[in-house]
Amino acid sequence: MAKAKANAPTDDPRRQELAALEAQLRQHDHLYYRRAQPEISDAAYDELRDRYASLCGVLAVPDADRYDATLGDDHAVGFASVRHRVPMLSLEKANTEPDGYHREGADAPADEIPTERAQRDQTAWGKLEKWERRVRDLLALAAAAPLPLVVEPKIDGISVSLTYRDGRLVQAVTRGDGVSGDVITAQVEAAEAAPIAVTARGAFEVRGELYLPRAAFVALNQRLLADDARQLVNPRNGCAGLMKRKDAQSLRGLGVRSFLYAIAWHEGIALPASHWQRLDWLRAQGFPVHPGAARSNGVGEAYARCLAFTAQRPTLDHDIDGMVIKVDDADAWQRLGVTEHHPRWGIAYKFPPERVPTLLKAVTIQVGKTGKLTPVAELEPVFVAGTTVSRASLHNFAELAAKDVRVGDTVLIEKAGEIIPQVVRVDASRPRGAVAVPWPEACPTCGSAVVVERRDDVSGKQNVTHYCPNPGCPDQVRERLRHFASRGAMDIQGLGAAVVDKLVERGLAKRPDDLFRLRQEDLASLEMETSSNGVQRTFGAKNASNLLAGLEASKAKGLARVLAGLAVHDLGEKLSEDLAARFTSWETLLAFARAYLADEPRAALGVRKGLKKPELLGYARRLGLEPPEKATIDELKTLVRAAGVQPMEGIDETTADTVFSELTTPVITTVLDGLAAAGVSLAAEAVVQAAVAGVAGRTFVLTGTLPTLSREQAEGLIKAAGGATSGSVSKKTAYVVAGEEAGSKLAKARELGVPILDEAGLLALLKG
Ligand code: IVH
Repeated sequence: MAKAKANAPTDDPRRQELAALEAQLRQHDHLYYRRAQPEISDAAYDELRDRYASLCGVLAVPDADRYDATLGDDHAVGFASVRHRVPMLSLEKANTEPDGYHREGADAPADEIPTERAQRDQTAWGKLEKWERRVRDLLALAAAAPLPLVVEPKIDGISVSLTYRDGRLVQAVTRGDGVSGDVITAQVEAAEAAPIAVTARGAFEVRGELYLPRAAFVALNQRLLADDARQLVNPRNGCAGLMKRKDAQSLRGLGVRSFLYAIAWHEGIALPASHWQRLDWLRAQGFPVHPGAARSNGVGEAYARCLAFTAQRPTLDHDIDGMVIKVDDADAWQRLGVTEHHPRWGIAYKFPPERVPTLLKAVTIQVGKTGKLTPVAELEPVFVAGTTVSRASLHNFAELAAKDVRVGDTVLIEKAGEIIPQVVRVDASRPRGAVAVPWPEACPTCGSAVVVERRDDVSGKQNVTHYCPNPGCPDQVRERLRHFASRGAMDIQGLGAAVVDKLVERGLAKRPDDLFRLRQEDLASLEMETSSNGVQRTFGAKNASNLLAGLEASKAKGLARVLAGLAVHDLGEKLSEDLAARFTSWETLLAFARAYLADEPRAALGVRKGLKKPELLGYARRLGLEPPEKATIDELKTLVRAAGVQPMEGIDETTADTVFSELTTPVITTVLDGLAAAGVSLAAEAVVQAAVAGVAGRTFVLTGTLPTLSREQAEGLIKAAGGATSGSVSKKTAYVVAGEEAGSKLAKARELGVPILDEAGLLALLKG
């Protein structure tokens, strides 16, 4: 099925912005749903999504091509997946204006923000009014007729569906992609997060939210800290991470709880007609129902309840991120129906992010793993969204200048995704500081002259970055090793940041390959920080053995993880996976990188996609082809493809220039040689993770561009499920997976009667 993608290449700047927005949404969805590590606030995410939706509207992008037509996805690897009887949708949001400032539990000075707050409220209020009008229209209710509503706190946890039969919990399932979710019955039972037995017989499915109370979160983090393990970033992510633990028994006593708020379906039981009474029914069964739920008449009252409840947030033992307003007449829910993604019977009011003013005392400079210099705000400590903040990243010096942030200013602090503190802007209502922050000329750590890089992004905006160019800079050395050991890279157990710092300090490791030469005795006697009671601690024999075991285990992680751990500019996890999948070994990748830099036609053609005709002709001739002078660009492309040139996905020329030249520098090749010598695998063998019936032992042919998966990813998934891929269609081909611009292979498949799948069909097959 060929379809025009919303982000097809084009010169139209709006299309380019759309493509850039889609890429950002994909990245943030990946971080949120797959990694449970969001980097931006919900409000900032919603802003991106709204901008994407409005551009899609302007450009009349068909629904089928819209990235936001799919729901978020929290599926985890290794869990059984089941289809929801009733899809788990999400609620429409009465968005709040992200640029208002708001302080929880305290009244903002009246003269300070009235216009901002009024604007913000109007946005939310406008949407609520519109929602009420639609509900009244659909239910044929006159404007003056009562409209009973229920207002409930919106718990910031993870959605869950619980099925009960004959009084017993029989299945707990996550939301997954909304259509099917992961089975976590053992996890819910072990955590005692919901009742295992209830009095009602028959069968029914309740929906609600699993959450980690703040106290449980703090206690768990203390334990993790004591074990030198990575701490949870916030209760929501902590809860998501815990419920994905395969060892369900380890959840005992950790304190995961739930609030239930709906019955999705039922058989053999009678339920009351109103939502409010159903909440009572749930309570009577022993389900925890949020005590903050209240009734109101019409959205005016409901909105007042939302605003008033804000003040109660700090008194709760758990996080809420807004309020949910629901039509009380549960029979009417059916009549109101659903839009593409949301039921019409409810709407969510999201709280604006908490923004708190504080003094900017100084700006210091942090040297990152790639040498990037990041200005850091040193703040008068202030309490924001659950923790005390005294430092915040200011991203880059150009942004600092654009925001005109000066030392001595009062700045507004917000937490991205309730995790990472950010300086939003200067508080214009306070007296301004006088000291502007100059651009650095020398690295604050090693004194090297700073390099300034200017690069345009897809939307044409110029990004200015300052770098320390000295790979031997002590800060860079430390940050690179920390990164190599981190979860997104080699995930070396026992090698936390504190240990890396000490190894670097003692001169025991400078490069990743040095780590694999560490000896038990050096490690055991490594002096760690002096504890608060003045006792000098050593790393100790047990920790040393654990670390050595962690290093040993990491040797088999494969090429993608090694690449991701190198801290090469622009070489993140995704590109590392693509490169490893395509080249399968370090030697082949290095040879390609060198060929690309030497402008050899095969390599150059694989990467450079926007070539003009003369360049294309030149390469084709250098390949030994004899294209006719009159050949069109498309004909030339077909010709080079026929000569076996495979375009690489997921990498553009600028990225390729950076990544391939860095990979070929002696700094990197020496590390890779050292790693190989230490026995670290630099190959990317496709490991069969779990054979999937219908895929295992069968051969697939991929053709054309798939809407979301790259060629490498699709191949990886097929191989991981025990299947094989081939470049040509024959009678032995089990399936042809066809995307946009599928050509002769698709025609051949039709001729031979080979079944054809699109991406969705492939994904369905892979689920087994
Ligand atoms: S009603 C169609 N009530 O908020 C979904 N949702 O988009 C109907 N949530 O992830 C949900 N507290 O899991 C409802 N009291 C509450 C809620 C609640 C939290 C979550 C829900 C979903 C999101 C709504």
